[in-house]
Amino acid sequence: MTAVFTVVVSFLALFLSLVVVSGDVIRLPSQASKFFRPTEDDVGDDSSAGTKWAVLVAGSRGYWNYRHQADVCHAYQLLRKGGVKEENIVVFMYDDIAKNKENPRPGIIINSPNGNDVYNGIPKDYTGDDVNVDNLFAVILGNKTALKGGSGKVVDSGPDDHIFIYYSDHGGPGVLGMPTSPALYANDLNDVLKKKHASGTYKSLVFYLEACESGSIFEGLLPEGLNIYATTAANAEESSWGTYCPGEDTSVPSEFETCLGDLYSVAWLEDSDKHNLQTESLHQQYELVKKRTAATGSTYGSHVMEFGDIGLLGKEKLVLYLGTNPDNENATFADENSLRPLSGGVTNQRDADLVHFWEKYKKAPEGSSRKAEAQKQVLEAMSHRLHVDNSVLLIGKLLFGISEGPAVLNKVRPGGKPLVDDWECLKTLVRAFEKHCGSLSQYGLKHMRSIANICNAGIQMEQMEEAAIQACPTIPTGPWSSLHQGFSA
Ligand SMILES: *[C@@H]1O[C@H](CO)[C@@H](O)[C@H](O)[C@H]1NC(C)=O
Ligand SMILES: *[C@@H]1O[C@H](CO)[C@@H](O)[C@H](O)[C@H]1NC(C)=O
Repeated sequence: MTAVFTVVVSFLALFLSLVVVSGDVIRLPSQASKFFRPTEDDVGDDSSAGTKWAVLVAGSRGYWNYRHQADVCHAYQLLRKGGVKEENIVVFMYDDIAKNKENPRPGIIINSPNGNDVYNGIPKDYTGDDVNVDNLFAVILGNKTALKGGSGKVVDSGPDDHIFIYYSDHGGPGVLGMPTSPALYANDLNDVLKKKHASGTYKSLVFYLEACESGSIFEGLLPEGLNIYATTAANAEESSWGTYCPGEDTSVPSEFETCLGDLYSVAWLEDSDKHNLQTESLHQQYELVKKRTAATGSTYGSHVMEFGDIGLLGKEKLVLYLGTNPDNENATFADENSLRPLSGGVTNQRDADLVHFWEKYKKAPEGSSRKAEAQKQVLEAMSHRLHVDNSVLLIGKLLFGISEGPAVLNKVRPGGKPLVDDWECLKTLVRAFEKHCGSLSQYGLKHMRSIANICNAGIQMEQMEEAAIQACPTIPTGPWSSLHQGFSA
């Protein structure tokens, strides 16, 4: 055991030195200042007509996912300061962070190294197992009878209203995580948005989405004409990134062994915190967030994307959705030509759990039970990853042959095409995989494209099951293999 652990740990140390990157200060190029100059028609605000609604979703659980709930709490505070009423903001969060035994500041959540508490006053609308796909859809559609548990708050909107939806979590091609099983599939989400549009209960809707491969949620799926404008943290083929992470970022208080925010989320939130949102348009914010989230020569990053009615809604002012903090009434773009510099390390969403266990391991006293616990967590997380990666690869080889298998699994469809044609097939094959090989869990969501490609190649459920039975003669035990994905908090 000890020898194995030494090997895993040295591998991990090397691995983390690759993923945790010390960042340079990111500054906006001077040409960006053109976005800061308000024009005459920027001043109008027709927000008096219609109500502002918001749905805020943190789709994960577990202390190593601190950042998603921190982002969502921050968004809530921003909207409240902007004047959006509590009764019109619906919050989904597992709520296992503030009182978590790992939290060095009990009862408090921060979203940046020197940030204030963002947890205070958060409404507990949907927490614990009530954070699930069915409740989210019921809330968006304003269907109270479809709710199970929770506060009963829904988006009870009318035709003149504006809706803002923000989701921060793990994801994968075509899928977003939930703290409970099942995950949220892209086609179902887009169907719900179409249904909401058909019900005539909004004027326009804005969707901000942070997740790995988040572009795949709307690419080829969200049509124009629904009065929806969406931006995503990443394109359809790349990770999104956690930020304010421990390790290389010396500004993160040393007692936090977890990332405090996400790169795209913190970019839009911190931009909105300090600007007059009467004068900033959705598209202007998109440009700013895109620059701050992008990779540079020395930092990792992702490609922020826009979808939907970009031309029509992109020029609308943020105040319509987020309100605006009266303290910022004089903070026009003309006064601002750089974002607050973003310092420190970023971490791939999928590695943030390892970063947490590794920090915990490093700092725990020699011989303590905490060190032993962290060692066990590292080993279990690593062995689950190996198991998932190996089983998907083996299934591909069993179905398509040793040489063809990997090529089929890794195929990427041309841009603008959805991940898969038959979403029911994708769900069925995921269930077949999980039945025989254990939960994909948040890490395994990265393999959704491979499973989609198995569908696109015409494989049916029976063939998939046969391959899964061969690839996974036993389901490994351990916290990452259960459908509740991960250690209980
Ligand atoms: C609301 O949900 C219930 C239960 O799922 C369903 O029977 C009903 O048709 C839904 N109502 C609308 C207006 O969609
Ligand atoms: C904005 O500027 C005006 C005019 O100088 C001033 O009266 C007002 O107090 C300022 N608002 C804030 C929030 O500082």
